[in-house]
Amino acid sequence: MTDLSGKSGLIVGIANKRSIAWAIAQAAARAGARLAVTYQGERLEENVRDLAASLTDPLVLPCDVTDDAQLAAVFADIDRAFGGLDFVVHGAAYAPREALDAPFVETSRDAFRMALDISAYSLVALARGAAPLMERRGGGSILTLTYLGSQRVFQNYNVMGVAKAALEASVRYLAADLGPKGIRVNAISAGPIKTLAAAGISGFSAILQQYRDRAPLRRTVETAEVADAAVFLLGPSGRAVTAEVLMVDGGYHATGM
Ligand SMILES: NC(=O)c1ccc[n+]([C@@H]2O[C@H](COP(=O)([O-])OP(=O)(O)OC[C@H]3O[C@@H](n4cnc5c(N)ncnc54)[C@H](O)[C@@H]3O)[C@@H](O)[C@H]2O)c1
Repeated sequence: MTDLSGKSGLIVGIANKRSIAWAIAQAAARAGARLAVTYQGERLEENVRDLAASLTDPLVLPCDVTDDAQLAAVFADIDRAFGGLDFVVHGAAYAPREALDAPFVETSRDAFRMALDISAYSLVALARGAAPLMERRGGGSILTLTYLGSQRVFQNYNVMGVAKAALEASVRYLAADLGPKGIRVNAISAGPIKTLAAAGISGFSAILQQYRDRAPLRRTVETAEVADAAVFLLGPSGRAVTAEVLMVDGGYHATGM
């Protein structure tokens, strides 16, 4: 099993116990990491504090990724508490409801901007804040979560697919910028999982069924399985892997007719 003892990590994107980011937090904590976890707004604070109570000595911080002052405060607090940072997990994504219901061609400028800002630009902002703290540790690992809708059309995924395409391209550019500092940047492209974010995609159950019918493993994936792959990429076993989008989807991405 990967050993993350002595490492500290930041996890952004926990909404509730079903969040992929929460499964990754649990797996990283089991591997020995000390964690800072964030919540978006007061609405989610209690959820995240309740979950974090099961971690050892966590730092719990507010972080709306559209708010530069909050982002700066997160890294200042982490610096004070941990004196550096070894990994970041980015699991924040959002698109306005109407952009997921109407045809893609109807996407408004505001919805497009909001989806790209929250779901893609935020990785760049987090990487910029984390890099100086990681340099002090001699390097680090940054991981985001994406979906195959970046490359293929899934009904109703719409502007989120465009945001994921920008996110995956950002992974490659960030990996190129930060690689010389020993900082790796990767994504996991997870198969569909019923979470709060997924509830915003109408017809999501049909997508799940498609994976059960057609993925080589003939099933969907679980958050714990994504978390196991995440711990590999965050820790020493993944030390030569960067600029990668790892498919954790039961093989669905490889299917054609
Ligand atoms: N569930 C799936 O089927 C699936 C598949 C592949 C990839 N993903 C991706 O995994 C990631 C995590 O999603 P999830 O499925 O666990 O759902 P989730 O709803 O549990 O997590 C999404 C998170 O984004 C956060 N968020 C939204 N706007 C934010 C903002 N302005 N500032 C800070 N945080 C903000 C929410 O608070 C929430 O914690 C997302 O990037 C999602 O696109 C999900």
